[in-house]
Amino acid sequence: PETPIVFDASVFQYHKEIPKQFIWPDHDKPSPNVPELSVPIIDLGGFLSGDPVASSEATRLAGEACLKHGFFLVANHGVDGKLLENAHSYADSFFTMPFVEKQKAQRKPGQHCGYASSFTTRFSSKLPWKETLSFRYCAEDSNSNSDSNIVQDYLVNAMGQEFQEFGKVYQEYCEAMSTLSLGIMELLGTSLGVGRKFFKEFFQGNDSIMRLNYYPRCQKPDIALGTGPHCDPTSLTILHQDNVGGLEVFVDGKWRSISPKPHVFVVNIGDTFMALSNCRYKSVLHRAVVNSEKPRKSLAFFLCPQKDKLVTPPTELVDVEHPRAYPDFTWSALFRFTQEQHRANGNTLDAFS
Ligand code: SIN
Ligand code: FE2
Repeated sequence: PETPIVFDASVFQYHKEIPKQFIWPDHDKPSPNVPELSVPIIDLGGFLSGDPVASSEATRLAGEACLKHGFFLVANHGVDGKLLENAHSYADSFFTMPFVEKQKAQRKPGQHCGYASSFTTRFSSKLPWKETLSFRYCAEDSNSNSDSNIVQDYLVNAMGQEFQEFGKVYQEYCEAMSTLSLGIMELLGTSLGVGRKFFKEFFQGNDSIMRLNYYPRCQKPDIALGTGPHCDPTSLTILHQDNVGGLEVFVDGKWRSISPKPHVFVVNIGDTFMALSNCRYKSVLHRAVVNSEKPRKSLAFFLCPQKDKLVTPPTELVDVEHPRAYPDFTWSALFRFTQEQHRANGNTLDAFS
């Protein structure tokens, strides 16, 4: 068996070479000049306010994109620009702290919350060139007494009192993401012909995951990857990338990029929603490449149902032409399974990186 290696904070510093564990096999290596993926920009404001013309256009565009590859952009989404800016600047301030400070929030083996990077002891190869900070967000649910400051409490607990403001910003950011994701669920319900309510209600009181990704600049961007190819096992991902760029999606046998646009979110379908739509909507492979010029950041909100809710498609989506694609399952069971698989493969931080 391989001996575990221990990287220290200097691994991401600008040496000429990178450790071999960060070198990806030839078939995974990034290619130069990746063409742009054609993804619609959906005007969500028009849909949410019930404007009939904007709604039917938004519904059509979302439906087409989700049948093809499951990626689309949303603009006019109602998320405050100042909040978005603050979220990015607090993420910057976190990742540029000394390693020992970030390690206060170190993720424990088998857990998905906390700070993680390839600095820590890792077996194997195909390491992602990135650092992450992840935490749990639970939306208020009228049926339970969910903790209303879960994000802020977690961050202050992990990092100390100085993180009150950081925690407050991300508490608010997650609340905005949860609201936005429920709006997008209305859109997806409409486009699938099951009405606005079905999926929105399914995700009420969602138990989601927020992840901040930081990709240091890399001296060998042609042989390393920030995030290896994966599908998100979660339901819906709402991503905001800074202006550097690096997101790629695998469509029709080719990698395509999605360039950043200010105040626009990238939305994609995850495996759980693919199952919930009885396989109508796609969850596809994507990855993040790195570059030698600038570090890059992205903020990802992963919408997840309550852990023990059964993932069952609405009856309208099941018929003789579309028999059940998957048996019922719970998100907690799927999550446990994907985490175990990824640990066994030993090549990524976890099931959605
Ligand atoms: C990104 O950073 O652009 C995407 C990361 C991911 O899909 O995990
Ligand atoms: Fe992803």
